[in-house]
Amino acid sequence: MKILGISGSPRRPEVSGVYRLVKIVLEATGQDYELVSLRGKTIGGCIACLGCVKDNVCKVKDDMADLRDKIVEADAYVIGAPNYYMGINALTSAFLERLYQFRHQTGNTLWGRLAVAVGVGGASGQICCDGIERFMDYRFIETVAKVSGQGAASCYSCGYGESCKVGVPVMLHGEGVKITQDMIPDINKQPELIAAAERAGELLGQRLSNDYDRSKVTEKMQKIMMEKFKSST
Ligand SMILES: Cc1cc2nc3c(=O)[nH]c(=O)nc-3n(C[C@H](O)[C@H](O)[C@H](O)COP(=O)(O)O)c2cc1C
Repeated sequence: MKILGISGSPRRPEVSGVYRLVKIVLEATGQDYELVSLRGKTIGGCIACLGCVKDNVCKVKDDMADLRDKIVEADAYVIGAPNYYMGINALTSAFLERLYQFRHQTGNTLWGRLAVAVGVGGASGQICCDGIERFMDYRFIETVAKVSGQGAASCYSCGYGESCKVGVPVMLHGEGVKITQDMIPDINKQPELIAAAERAGELLGQRLSNDYDRSKVTEKMQKIMMEKFKSST
């Protein structure tokens, strides 16, 4: 089984909480994996050109084209996004929108696959986890676990964190704050979060090893989506 990890943070992997958390989940699966960072990639949102309707292949020429084969070849996904303005950041959102290319005609390329959703925010990443799960639902991909964490807001390292009146350090610790390493949220300093990420990875690994049946997952997800459609109309 092969798992594709996507880190949707535009920050360097060394400082990105999303990248680190996605990697922890992937390693705990015990399966083969590839981790792709979207940092530096040019991926626009879906432009609704409908160029993909005949053959389920997006015709927009940007860096999403290189990811298509990886998406098709993977049995499962670990997708992580940073929380920007209480939502999934634009880069990850663009990547997820472009999965529209898989939905037409028979459109079953991704059906029944499994996923873990990862979200990181200066406060919380839960809203990103829920958003990623929603995108997965639309492709009948089951999200088996969601991992939300608190990472370091850029305000701790921008250079103005101690004086900026609207920055996170002043908002959380008050005027006159002196930024210390201790107060900067860091995935590595949160054993419970790391344990949750490991549990999510183990669960995904187990689900893929134990009689994983794509058609059963597809059926289950189709039922869930039908219920959601019914309750929203
Ligand atoms: C444009 C922007 C908007 C942000 N908005 C929020 C927000 O609404 N809520 C929050 O909890 N964190 C917010 N953050 C903080 C990031 O989610 C936080 O820095 C997180 O650690 C980023 O993940 P990364 O380390 O993988 O890049 C924002 C950061 C940026 C750059």
